[in-house]
Amino acid sequence: MTSLTLASSALFPRAAELRARRLRRATAARAATERGAAVASVDQSLNPRVASLRESKTMALTDLARSMKESGLPVIGLAAGEPDFDTPAAIVEAGCAAIRGGKTRYSPNTGTAALREAVCAKLLDENGLTYEPGEIVLSNGAKQSVAQGVIATCGPGDEVIVPAPFWVSYPEMCRLAGAEPVVARTSAEDGFLLSAETLRSHLSPKSRLLILCTPSNPSGAVYSEEDLRAIAEVVREHPRLLVLADEIYEHIIYPPARHVSFAGLPGMRERTLTVNGFSKAFAMTGWRLGYLAAPAHFAKAAASIQSQTTSGPSTISQEAGLAALELGPGGGEPVREMRAAFLKRRDYVVSRFKAMRANAGDIKLEAPRGAFYVFPDVSAIVGEGCVAEGFGVVEDGDALCRYLLEKAQVALVPGSAFGNPECVRLSYAASDDTLAEALDRIEAALKEDVYRVKKEA
Ligand SMILES: Cc1ncc(COP(=O)(O)O)c(C=O)c1O
Repeated sequence: MTSLTLASSALFPRAAELRARRLRRATAARAATERGAAVASVDQSLNPRVASLRESKTMALTDLARSMKESGLPVIGLAAGEPDFDTPAAIVEAGCAAIRGGKTRYSPNTGTAALREAVCAKLLDENGLTYEPGEIVLSNGAKQSVAQGVIATCGPGDEVIVPAPFWVSYPEMCRLAGAEPVVARTSAEDGFLLSAETLRSHLSPKSRLLILCTPSNPSGAVYSEEDLRAIAEVVREHPRLLVLADEIYEHIIYPPARHVSFAGLPGMRERTLTVNGFSKAFAMTGWRLGYLAAPAHFAKAAASIQSQTTSGPSTISQEAGLAALELGPGGGEPVREMRAAFLKRRDYVVSRFKAMRANAGDIKLEAPRGAFYVFPDVSAIVGEGCVAEGFGVVEDGDALCRYLLEKAQVALVPGSAFGNPECVRLSYAASDDTLAEALDRIEAALKEDVYRVKKEA
């Protein structure tokens, strides 16, 4: 370094810092070019099952909304499936006590004995299901439980019946297992419920698994006992067919609807893998804790996948999970309060959608009976002849979501992500004020003077 540079560094430390950073950037850029040349000569092919996976539109939209927000835009994200409440205090306290008390070591692979016992007691008391602790596999979120259930039971040559609308991950998990997802569509007219006849028409000798989600993400539909009994009748006719019952929204259900566990129906326990978890009802999404309850043979298979991939879930989260189950039947008062808030929001959101473009009767939506989503059918306001000012033709639900993100700066998820492109999903797990603002903006963006709908008769 010359004495002149030394002197200028002393006088202008910020300039010296910038020069050094420029130099580091130039070096890094040279290294990246060299790396690029090296990468080009590497075989970048992937496991075909992985290469066939599609990106989750829910996550992509949530990320996009977040980055728009970070860049200063007043975006309202109603795309994520996450309660906006804090985890109840007693659960947080149990997590903190676990850390302080040194409960920070590896958990047994399928979870702690105490929590598996508590899950068995919960399943017996609340769901009428009898399981032994050896039939419970606690995992890092219900997502892992579903994935392990699918991978443990299905492989190449198998078909998995996935009723649409479906949770985005089901078909991709089937592909990961090498199995074929067979989508069985339902619609707003049939309450987004799979009927016994529709199920029967999608079965083949290759059918191995049916995935049922009640209450449903994304539609909020809840199967009645009668609906499930009719499905069980069909399942009974197919000795090879199993059922994965995803019951993670069990406690977010609005009377008179009542949750019924599929495994509790006559003859279904041995055929069913029940998945549940803590994320939604207890506002514990970040704690990553879910479970699978299944006959020992299937539970063991799921456990062996877990033992060779992630091992057991966080010991700390399991202590918190224990406290969650101790809150009382159905999650006690904290869950009752959250459910009451969700119900109020559901009614508000449904009434706002019903009032929107009411003259044309354009948006179809009935109040869902569970979960915290609405899934309006918007087919009447998209397609040829539907034109938004400053945007152009809104050809489908995907375009409608793009338009609403641009114009109203509200993030929703297009129904195509869930297998029903005629719908969009809005999560009302957001504060009352946020929902009011979001619906004001959506309404303004869809007003007849800026959003024209002209359809062939
Ligand atoms: C239907 C359904 N099943 C499972 C999960 C996964 O839950 P977890 O966060 O416990 O992995 C979700 C989360 O969005 C869901 O909506």
